[in-house]
Amino acid sequence: MCGIMGYIGTERASPILSRGLKNLEYRGYDSVGVAMLSAISGSLEIRKGVGKIDEVQNQLKFDELDGNIGIGHTRWATHGTVSRENSHPHTDCAGKIAIIHNGIIENNIELKEMLLRKGHRFSGETDSEVIAHLIEDRMNSGEIGPVGFVDPAESVESVGSVESVGSVESVGSVESVESVGSVESVGSTGFGSCFEDACRWAFGQLRGSYAVLAMVEGADEIVAVRKDSPLVLGQADHGTFFASDVSPFLEWTKDVIYLQNHDFVVAEKDSLRICNLIDGEVDRPVDTVEWSVEEAQKGNFEHFMLKEIFEQAETIQKAIQQDREVVDRIVQMIQEGFGVFFVACGSSYHACMTGSYLMSKIAGVHVNVVLASEFENYEHFLTDRTLVFAVSQSGETADVLDAVKAAKRQGSKIVSITNVMGSSLSREGDELLMMNSGPEICVLSTKTYTSQVIMMALLACALAGEDEDCARRVKELYMDVHNLTSKNMRESLKKLADLLVGKDHIYMIGRGLQYTTAMEAALKVKEVSYIHTEAFAGGELKHGPLALIGEGTPLFVFVSQENEDRIISNAQEVKARGGYVIGVSDWDNPVFDYWIKVPDCGNLNPVIQAIPLQILAYELAVVLGLDPDKPRNLAKSVTVL
Ligand code: M6R
Repeated sequence: MCGIMGYIGTERASPILSRGLKNLEYRGYDSVGVAMLSAISGSLEIRKGVGKIDEVQNQLKFDELDGNIGIGHTRWATHGTVSRENSHPHTDCAGKIAIIHNGIIENNIELKEMLLRKGHRFSGETDSEVIAHLIEDRMNSGEIGPVGFVDPAESVESVGSVESVGSVESVGSVESVESVGSVESVGSTGFGSCFEDACRWAFGQLRGSYAVLAMVEGADEIVAVRKDSPLVLGQADHGTFFASDVSPFLEWTKDVIYLQNHDFVVAEKDSLRICNLIDGEVDRPVDTVEWSVEEAQKGNFEHFMLKEIFEQAETIQKAIQQDREVVDRIVQMIQEGFGVFFVACGSSYHACMTGSYLMSKIAGVHVNVVLASEFENYEHFLTDRTLVFAVSQSGETADVLDAVKAAKRQGSKIVSITNVMGSSLSREGDELLMMNSGPEICVLSTKTYTSQVIMMALLACALAGEDEDCARRVKELYMDVHNLTSKNMRESLKKLADLLVGKDHIYMIGRGLQYTTAMEAALKVKEVSYIHTEAFAGGELKHGPLALIGEGTPLFVFVSQENEDRIISNAQEVKARGGYVIGVSDWDNPVFDYWIKVPDCGNLNPVIQAIPLQILAYELAVVLGLDPDKPRNLAKSVTVL
């Protein structure tokens, strides 16, 4: 998790980093920091602290930092508590090398022990800090080029070579020049190249997942690497950007290079070099991002969550617009394959659950839906005839990528469904379907959930030869979705939020497509309001959960024409025990104490019925004074297993 960003060029780096990091905050927001090479003294300056970017920046005045080369980080803690020491950038013993990292260094303990034995001193508890010390150690080893520096006060006694894990020495010189101005500096002389060599060596010691940016006093360059953690480059006339995704630099450029695993990058003010630490020379094309700056900004909305909820009338229309040929090929893969799995986490998992009901109802196709984190338990069912749909908004969810790896090991075919072009998942599949939702910045999935449901409906309908009918029905949803985000609806949901705000528990029930909708609604409410909210299949109530109902316990009931009788009788059982029943349906029913009116849209009800609950979740957060875009302890892109 964590967001990383860097800039090198002719503009001042600090305002770029400050603005850019705001767009990465969704990836982690417990602490933030920047490192800058001062334009005046050439020295490295670091400012970092605990809190969200606005708080820390106001306190530490990032904008005051002068210089055209800088890196910045926004953290979601994995190793080590939330503290200034553990926030990035991290430095070496001498404070001359700065690194930022996103990912997990799995062998950090053994590396740290080795470095401690050699006299290195660590400031914090993170796994990332070893990277700065490894680079320092190598620079001081005398084994490469000119020795960069040795802190006289702290020269590490045992500067000898580190017993190396793996070998990167053999990686040829970095020659592949992607673009930008002069490239003379490709040679291996000078301080910069000593640093580059040390970085290349240090990165070769790492096991795990990492996107790393590194810089050193005295060298006008940023050195970077990625493996299993996202890192993209932006190219503008005035310089090069590095970031975990494109959103931080959209304001300056839409020209992007999607880096691959083991890509090693050296950016100077007027040159950019990329090689691959395994494959050597590589050619990485420059793509154009289709997302607009406005899409990645809040506009007149108070929060991204509200903006993204309101965008759904449009985004579901984009989700249905898929390449017919790709859809036909996927349909054929399902028909010819033997066993279909939908694999995902969180809201994407709920969309998959909904998808499995739709596949069953509309196309008579059986699909196994598995939480990505549990997928290993099914690995022995996989063959080269199995089809695995990996569904992930971010395309970077580690559990999903891990499941994909497992499926590939067995030779299974992969269909990737994601919202982020260039993400790891977008490059993994045999076929790719994009959600086309535009950037989703709020940590909660809203518009991408409904897009996923639409795509599931499309696939099910395509299997049944009813895709044109599906596209027509999605078109008709436009006004329904628009009405659900009306002022009246919001007012009514605000009132309901006021009623629920003091509750400790909220329960939700549904059957069939309304059950999976209840699951998604419960996740929305709990993650943003911190009120315990749980969903049950209506039929399961009497098997245990009914014991939870007491006087005034709120229970949401999702109703459709198809399953009305049975779910209403479940609601009556709750009412008889003092429960407060909130109906989500097309018509009012005497059992409801509160009614959320939604049109009945048949198989597309999971879209229609989710939206008021997204708004309710938002209103609850607002009433409770919580930040809906950044719920505590969560991050948008969950890149750890
Ligand atoms: O990017 P992904 O779709 O793979 O993310 C999966 C979950 O982490 C995500 O849906 C999460 O549950 C959201 N917070 C839900 O609002």
